[in-house]
Amino acid sequence: MPNLNEVIRNTPKAELHIHVEGSLEPEMMFDLARRNGVSLPYGDVDEVRRAYSFRNLQEFLDLYYEGMSVLRTEDDFFALADAYLRRAAADNVVHVEMFFDPQAHTARGVSLRALMDGLERASDCSRERGVSVSLILCFLRHLTETEAFETLEAAEPCRDRLLGVGLDSSEVGHPPSKFARVFEAARDMGLRLVAHAGEEGPPEYVWEALDILGVERIDHGNRALEDDALVARLREDRIPLTVCPLSNLELRVVDDLAAHPIKRMLDLGLLATVNSDDPAYFGGYINENFRRVAEAVDLSTDDIQTLARNSFTASFAA
Ligand code: ADE
Ligand code: ZN
Repeated sequence: MPNLNEVIRNTPKAELHIHVEGSLEPEMMFDLARRNGVSLPYGDVDEVRRAYSFRNLQEFLDLYYEGMSVLRTEDDFFALADAYLRRAAADNVVHVEMFFDPQAHTARGVSLRALMDGLERASDCSRERGVSVSLILCFLRHLTETEAFETLEAAEPCRDRLLGVGLDSSEVGHPPSKFARVFEAARDMGLRLVAHAGEEGPPEYVWEALDILGVERIDHGNRALEDDALVARLREDRIPLTVCPLSNLELRVVDDLAAHPIKRMLDLGLLATVNSDDPAYFGGYINENFRRVAEAVDLSTDDIQTLARNSFTASFAA
């Protein structure tokens, strides 16, 4: 009987909730800062790691946007995505649907072309190694609807390189309904739709993501469990949740991993998956998320296999 860690290691899986910018390890941050002449408010990588202590989503986002300011050229985006994709492959990830935040780069004068070309080149290399990759462009929800429209329009020439669009960044105060018309336009372009909802925001935001944006998948969705009717809707419509245990712990969505709802989600019949969100910031890639949450809430071998199977069912490659 293989132990749980072996099962986790040996089970092929898809990763559906990974922000490529959230895989920027401090070592690469320093290398790129040096190469690009960007100054960082830290002396060394240990100081960066010590700064990674968050009381909420916004405290993380502030460091996340600051960290990614070292990314400037196509080669930088290639190096970032290539490192993540190699690391994911080592965890037996065989398919990735990768988020990226173009507005966080174009606002600094980086061209969408450099960003997309770098990510695309790393994706091609990954495919040659046997791991499929698709790209999901995320709108920053703390920015305006107009800015989201401008981003969608700028991405139109690259339409064929995109699988879909998503919605991320500061959730509370920026409900999905703010982006109803942008998501409608993205749908008309044939793009698949996902959104972060119910991470810090209320169940109402999950309803809006489903009923107003028409998303096919909810990223996080933890707070959906507060609403029985919403749980029934997610179950009946087989709407996947891309859950991120270590992110939830580090951003205080849960006080303790032992209180993590992943097991409860499975018991409720929800199509839950395990993902890493921003692994360089939250202490682990996908297998570490599986290991830590499995230990904390006592997942069985069957639960691990269900979660891995769910990742393929939930993927747009299915
Ligand atoms: N951007 C990167 N990680 C995020 C998260 N966990 N929630 C919202 N926006 C994000
Ligand atoms: Zn996320």
